[in-house]
Amino acid sequence: RPAATIAPSILSADFARLAEECKRMVDLGADWLHVDVMDGHFVPNLTIGAPVVASLRKHTDAFLDCHLMVSNPEQWVKDFAKAGADMYTFHLEAAAGPGADDWHALSPDAAHQAVVDLCRGIRAAHMHVGIALKPSTPPELVAPYVAEGLVDMVLVMTVEPGFGGQSFMPQAVAKAAFLRNKFPDLNIQVDGGLAPNTIDRAAEAGANVIVAGSAVFGAADPAAVMTTLKTSVSA
Ligand code: DX5
Ligand code: ZN
Repeated sequence: RPAATIAPSILSADFARLAEECKRMVDLGADWLHVDVMDGHFVPNLTIGAPVVASLRKHTDAFLDCHLMVSNPEQWVKDFAKAGADMYTFHLEAAAGPGADDWHALSPDAAHQAVVDLCRGIRAAHMHVGIALKPSTPPELVAPYVAEGLVDMVLVMTVEPGFGGQSFMPQAVAKAAFLRNKFPDLNIQVDGGLAPNTIDRAAEAGANVIVAGSAVFGAADPAAVMTTLKTSVSA
């Protein structure tokens, strides 16, 4: 599998000290910084948007891995690109195209086209493309886009998106195994409840990009937690 990558989620940081918190994580060994964007519509929580990414960009060169838990993800591509985001990961369930509300309500052809257009738009804006799956979304649905070469990373959610600090859902990692089997070189990210006591299941399934919020920010020794996560995935 591709290189082990640890991405602390700044959702668990002190938002009033974001620049320092990001620097602290990078100094402690973070490979990427995971930025959780929530719109209070796709998920029942509100966090941060492109203006905060633009401000952070002035303080860090780190790879900003932006996870868009928003409806109408096509709406923010230009803003995030301009803000300096490196990765734009949208939820497959939200990729309905302008004016449509629910991906499931579209015809299969229209839904496919909306996703293809969005992937191309993100690349055209010079960002990496990620597609996220909620725990209940089957991995077969994302495979065609990966096979078409439109996607740099698939994010397998191991909690329901919306909040940090939830419990890892072990059944969700089977989706990472399905994708790893099909796509040996794909970046497969897991997000939600990852910690030293859950990492082995994600690693065995073939995940290589590990998001961790509360486990890292809540730790007495965050560097040790990041090292444990990384060595578990590299083994
Ligand atoms: C949840 C977010 C996660 C969250 C992970 O909706 O996508 O990135 O911050 O937090 P922990 O690691 O605490 O589960
Ligand atoms: Zn996330």
